Amino acid sequence: MRLRRNPLAKQRLRDHPLVVQDPEQLCGKWKTVFPLEQPLHVELGTGKGQFLAKASSLYPDRNWIGVERVEEPLLQAVKKGGQTENTNLRYLWLDVNDLPTVFAPGEVSRFYLHFSDPWPKSRHSKRRLTHRHFLQIYQLLLADSGDLILKTDSEILFQFSLDEFTELGWNIIEQTTDLHQSPFRENNITTEYEDKFVSQGLPIYYLRVKKPLSP
Ligand SMILES: C[S@@+](CC[C@H](N)C(=O)[O-])C[C@H]1O[C@@H](n2cnc3c(N)ncnc32)[C@H](O)[C@@H]1O
Repeated sequence: MRLRRNPLAKQRLRDHPLVVQDPEQLCGKWKTVFPLEQPLHVELGTGKGQFLAKASSLYPDRNWIGVERVEEPLLQAVKKGGQTENTNLRYLWLDVNDLPTVFAPGEVSRFYLHFSDPWPKSRHSKRRLTHRHFLQIYQLLLADSGDLILKTDSEILFQFSLDEFTELGWNIIEQTTDLHQSPFRENNITTEYEDKFVSQGLPIYYLRVKKPLSP
């Protein structure tokens, strides 16, 4: 599903009103960006953006941000978002490593990790977006009542993530190894990758976790 390089993508992203330029300037001030002050939901590795376009329409009482580091899928996501005309939606052309430069501690209500690259070889485990290095970032930026949702087709990533969350003291609130056959499917909004895996008959692993609260 890798997209062909688009030489115009960079410039289109720089010009697009839904892509926040210089997001570092808004650290701690995201409530000023949206017309309504409401909980901030952030999808990490948005890809082509189906989830965000649907979620921002279904939940106008939340503000939505998509974070993606690769131009071509982000441009597709932004186009989908633009078609909704929702005012509660923005995109960041950003690497997840740089989240602390754009969000202040406690500013985010929920993170979503949807079908993150599984990096199945154990020597690459530090690149997984649920490596403890990343969990420490999410813990810092989430509000005390905040949570994180993970969906994946990869048993390796799911098991690794469960272990990392547990070892770092996160609370596992919901989990299943077959989301689409579970009660959690009711509120589920699918992504492009999810639709592909479900059409192949593959199970979707799902977790909802809450960050550990300091004593
Ligand atoms: C397998 S795709 C899944 C896309 C989408 N979430 C879905 O479910 O259809 C993973 C996406 O995460 C993005 N990604 C991976 N690592 C990232 C990082 N460190 N920062 C931002 N985006 C990242 C990739 O560029 C890719 O678009």
